[in-house]
Amino acid sequence: MDKIIIKGGKKLSGTVRISGAKNAALPIMASSLLVEGRTVLTNVPNLIDIRTMSHLLRIIGAKVEYEPDAHILNIDTSNCSFWEAPYELVKTMRASTYVMGPLLGRFGKANVSFPGGCAIGQRPIDLHLKGFRKLGANIRVERGYILAEAKELIGNHIYFDKSSVGATANVMMAAVKAQGTTILENSACEPEVTALAEFLTKMGAKISGIGTSKLIIQGVKALKPITAEIIPDRIEAGTFLIAGAITNSELTIIDCEPKHLSSVIEKLRECGYKLGIGENNITITTNNQQPTTKPLMVSTAPYPDFPTDLQAQLTALLSIGQGESIIKDNIFPERFMHISELNRLGANIKVKDNIAYVKGVEKLIGAPVMATDLRASAALILAGLAAEGETEISRIYHLDRGYEKIEQKLSKLGADIKRIY
Ligand code: EPZ
Repeated sequence: MDKIIIKGGKKLSGTVRISGAKNAALPIMASSLLVEGRTVLTNVPNLIDIRTMSHLLRIIGAKVEYEPDAHILNIDTSNCSFWEAPYELVKTMRASTYVMGPLLGRFGKANVSFPGGCAIGQRPIDLHLKGFRKLGANIRVERGYILAEAKELIGNHIYFDKSSVGATANVMMAAVKAQGTTILENSACEPEVTALAEFLTKMGAKISGIGTSKLIIQGVKALKPITAEIIPDRIEAGTFLIAGAITNSELTIIDCEPKHLSSVIEKLRECGYKLGIGENNITITTNNQQPTTKPLMVSTAPYPDFPTDLQAQLTALLSIGQGESIIKDNIFPERFMHISELNRLGANIKVKDNIAYVKGVEKLIGAPVMATDLRASAALILAGLAAEGETEISRIYHLDRGYEKIEQKLSKLGADIKRIY
């Protein structure tokens, strides 16, 4: 099985390009099912999750072609006639459930496997189903599958009990084809949800309130296939900024969207780092000879607050430094599998309920560690970059789901990192 080996302690320098956002690309790919014809997406990252969604769209009957070097994805949905997302795929990628809204919107029918367990905690999809029911769908669960059917979807007023990226996106994709008006309240405002709403609008959907927690959707009879660009990945961007911080280096990320990273920029500044913000680039610098990360109190929460998807990476940064930090995950309270691995590298972190108490240590020391999920893998890489000696990270297949060529990008910046097979 693949492993990543890092010899820590190297300074990084230079410029790194940020790829397109996986979490924006996945629902947008699913929404291509709403139309008949050819959707063209640019800046699509070359990742396993993108291949999994492509595979699922092919099962449904789409013709999907990806040009990895150009990052262009062509999806032709002219011959789709199947409305099922099989267990074999949903169990490997929960975002497969994103086809449910578009299939209901186009065919009035979807048969999607219930997603199973997840390494970052319990992830129910009750809010998705509540939304579909409110639009008039009849939902039955049979042998682990959710069968949703509606002769016609009818607009309704839907209040989400919790801000959910997935439920907002999924229900919005169905509501654009419902008869009448749908109001989604307490909907998620994450940039990936906004990107989907803008994509649907370009297809001909009528959505107002985009970027706010109240989306008003006027259903339309038909949409048209379009060409669109995927927004930059704010989580990859944040991960590289933390790579600069944890190695006490100066580096610049380019082709990113700084306004999606306000909370991250703020927290890194509070830690003592300098960030220079350009139109679509950010430079992180420090004047200090030694890493001097100052402690933080940070809570993850829906956008624009600090993202749960950078909690593990920030914890790695705060593990080396002065004083005590407190990191609370309000989105996924059990997302702390990386802590025991960071402690194997010499960190001093205790977890109680959904809070990590981090006592900064002077240094980390390389050791074999195991990745447990996508962002935990990134956190271990960051820790390995700073640790003294060699860190060997196993189970890194998680990484390929969400970070395009991360070891090549880090090598180009000067890291001593390689993958062994
Ligand atoms: C999306 O997951 C992302 N995944 C996650 O990215 C991200 O961590 C998460 O949003 C939060 O930002 C994709 O975009 C593919 P939610 P999602 O619905 O949509 C609860 C990564 O590493 N909830 O916003 O599944 C839920 O348990 C990942 O790239 C319900 O209770 O997250 C959580 O506490 C992993 N019922 C909260 O809402 C529901 O029906 C927010 O989850 C749905 C969610």
